[in-house]
Amino acid sequence: MISLILHGSNGHMGQVVSDIIEADPDVEITAGIDVTGEKKRDYPVYSSLTDCTEEADAIIDFSTAAAVDPLIAYGTERNIPMVICTTGLSETQIGSIRASEKVAIFRSANMSLGINLLIKILKENSKTLCDAGFDPEIIEMHHSRKLDAPSGTALMLADAVNSTENDSYTYTFDRSQRREKRDPKEIGISSVRGGTIVGEHDVIFAGQDEVLEFRHTAYSRAIFAKGAVAAAKFLSGKGPGLYDMSDVIG
Ligand SMILES: NC(=O)c1ccc[n+]([C@@H]2O[C@H](COP(=O)([O-])OP(=O)(O)OC[C@H]3O[C@@H](n4cnc5c(N)ncnc54)[C@H](O)[C@@H]3O)[C@@H](O)[C@H]2O)c1
Repeated sequence: MISLILHGSNGHMGQVVSDIIEADPDVEITAGIDVTGEKKRDYPVYSSLTDCTEEADAIIDFSTAAAVDPLIAYGTERNIPMVICTTGLSETQIGSIRASEKVAIFRSANMSLGINLLIKILKENSKTLCDAGFDPEIIEMHHSRKLDAPSGTALMLADAVNSTENDSYTYTFDRSQRREKRDPKEIGISSVRGGTIVGEHDVIFAGQDEVLEFRHTAYSRAIFAKGAVAAAKFLSGKGPGLYDMSDVIG
């Protein structure tokens, strides 16, 4: 049995993770941590990290960017591997996660199998398209409550395309103040926000007289929760290091 601490346990994702774990006999939640401090399930919920002394094989985090630094300090101090799913992290935060050498950390801005497979496909094929003059553009759509834009997933997809071109492309998030043609060495990233859209990502390669599109649609948050639980199982017992979904799906 793998035991987990759930950080951000009372949020939308925290509750879906709780549902997935309730139905999984191999995993249990020993404690939740959430600023609300409200107990919603059959595990205790602490409003502060320092109050949580329960044992766990891993921590799953779906909270907010500001809460991630104290969580990493806590997990490192207690030597508990962490699955960091929160998005909107700053470059400094991502840098300190990459530099972590004391504990296993799994970070992915998107825990779904589909998006991580799409990243693999993009890494294998973008160079052919970019070298042939296709212009990469990404459109992402999310619910109206989402705090960060563009989505962490859109940036992951852009990075996958860019990595095949030695990171020589720049990212354009807004063309409204420009009166010039599109730079062939740019990746446009556009964000749509509204309603209850769980998450949609389109990667478009627009070429001369032909367009190739890759689309991933998330119909439910369960895909992210399942990925996070799979990541926690994978991480349990792992030594220090930085892991992501490519380690799980190969
Ligand atoms: N990586 C992925 O696959 C993936 C998928 C979905 C969402 N996310 C990200 O996960 C995060 C959470 O998403 P959500 O939709 O559940 O948001 P949410 O706002 O519904 O939930 C966040 C929870 O964190 C709690 N929280 C806030 N500050 C805290 C703190 N200092 N300590 C502990 N808890 C704190 C809030 O009270 C809330 O219950 C977001 O960053 C979102 O973009 C990632």
